[in-house]
Amino acid sequence: MDGVLRIPAVNLTETDALIADALNGLTASSKSLSPKWLYDHHGSALFEQITQLPEYYPTRTEAGILHDNAAALSGLVPANGALVELGSGASVKTRTLLNAGRHFGAYVPIDISRDFLLETAGDLRTRYPRLSIVPVVADFSAPVALPRELATTPKVGFFPGSTIGNLAPDRAQALLEGVRAWGGIGAFIVGMDMVKDTSALVAAYDDAQGVTAQFIRNILVRLNREAQANFNIDAFKYRASWNPALARIDMQLVSSHEQVVTLAGQAITFEAQEAIHVSAARKYTPDSLRNLALSAGWDVAARHTDASDRFSVAVLTPVHRP
Ligand code: AVJ
Repeated sequence: MDGVLRIPAVNLTETDALIADALNGLTASSKSLSPKWLYDHHGSALFEQITQLPEYYPTRTEAGILHDNAAALSGLVPANGALVELGSGASVKTRTLLNAGRHFGAYVPIDISRDFLLETAGDLRTRYPRLSIVPVVADFSAPVALPRELATTPKVGFFPGSTIGNLAPDRAQALLEGVRAWGGIGAFIVGMDMVKDTSALVAAYDDAQGVTAQFIRNILVRLNREAQANFNIDAFKYRASWNPALARIDMQLVSSHEQVVTLAGQAITFEAQEAIHVSAARKYTPDSLRNLALSAGWDVAARHTDASDRFSVAVLTPVHRP
């Protein structure tokens, strides 16, 4: 024995939170699960696969916008300042900014998926040996405490992927307010997907290869493994639909028949065709985007977009009133 205390691979507090959250969502009159639980190691890998799908235009469209505006965007970070990314995943598109931002002092990737985050941080240290990489394991749906050593460092927030669209409007506002309150904050770069043709929107969330269906159903696989659940995965069908009133895509798992599932010792009854709401992807217009920013103390200093205005990379700066 080497005398080192072995910590179990599964984080107990995270498992407790998963179980509590799942029981809470699945015993409500309208059943739901939080999309943040989609991103376990397998889920994160499946999402990276989604970003390569022909129907899933947001990733490549945003990557193009970041590429075309890399100088202006990286120029928002002052010399030796920090770029702080919320929900960094594999940090693939961030490299466009890091490549153009040789003057950056630090890159702070924040992600809930610990193993994936640390793997990515190691890879980035090899790629950018002079940049200080400071990974933070955190759930950005709650206020994130930044590393103390970077408390006053001039910084720019980065929240790509239209992940903000996963949050209910009050949560999105709270997140924007939280970043606005960071010490040294100069700007917030936010990727936001735009309202467009319904068939293009639905196809992006219901691809022909079924990768998105697999990604969403993986949340049940995870519950079976980590929350002592016994979901019959094949008895839940994936459905994506556009909700025009709320300007969002809804991703749901629909019970094929009446059934009872046990989760952490509790029985949960499903009617035939009853849905579990797993994720919503809100889409924006130039107006709704500006109103959301303003509600949290941000001006839209710039809105970078592609030729068809499918996606926006918004540069938000703190509202300064004289
Ligand atoms: C990572 C939240 C931006 O909503 O477009 C993609 C997640 N879910 N396909 C999105 C997702 C199903 C994605 N975000």
